[in-house]
Amino acid sequence: MKRNIAVAPSILAADFWNLEQEITRVAETEATYLHFDVMDGHFVNNISFGVPVLKAIAKKHHLINDVHLMIENVARYLDAFMDAGADIITFHLEAVNEDEIEKLILRIHERGLKAGISLKPKTAVKEILPYLNQIDLVLVMSVEPGFGGQSFIEESLNKISELREFIDNHNLSCLIEVDGGINDMTAPRCIQRGADILVSGSYIFGANNIKESVKKLIK
Ligand code: DX5
Ligand code: ZN
Repeated sequence: MKRNIAVAPSILAADFWNLEQEITRVAETEATYLHFDVMDGHFVNNISFGVPVLKAIAKKHHLINDVHLMIENVARYLDAFMDAGADIITFHLEAVNEDEIEKLILRIHERGLKAGISLKPKTAVKEILPYLNQIDLVLVMSVEPGFGGQSFIEESLNKISELREFIDNHNLSCLIEVDGGINDMTAPRCIQRGADILVSGSYIFGANNIKESVKKLIK
């Protein structure tokens, strides 16, 4: 079966002074999603942007709003991000207690949104397996979360393979998204191992020709 490969440009790497223009430019490419990297300065050592920024952008373009929460206390802030126009909410497995995971997934699904769970590079795939039949996507971090522009961690490829095998063997519909260090060299390798969605920040927003850069990731 041939998989559809989708691209999710991460606005973390966009020029914030010209954000409207930057988003308009990626909206004219073959990208499917717009990736929002929300950082709280606690779960990761960086602070990016949050609810007001998502709210200002979410309804102004046709891309799917893919919100990656790199925050603690997901339960407290979840409604605010859902109200602000997220289409997909992904939280980190490392940021939540085991007993709240199913409740969070349920809260996201009740609102008609898609739910994702992300794994940091050092978190083993086996930790997420029990939830794959309940979520819409699993986000494999291929760099340590917190900053754009880092190099792809090779070991992520084995995690993608492991997830692909489990998902296919169990006939699940969960998509595999990969995030960090994605460019025209690393993307084909991720696709070959079974990734469905490629998040890319600096490669896309740093390109002279944004349209071409997105095309190169999918091919
Ligand atoms: C890192 C973020 C990524 C990041 C990707 O914490 O989750 O989405 O913006 O940026 P690049 O493509 O530059 O590695
Ligand atoms: Zn991200």
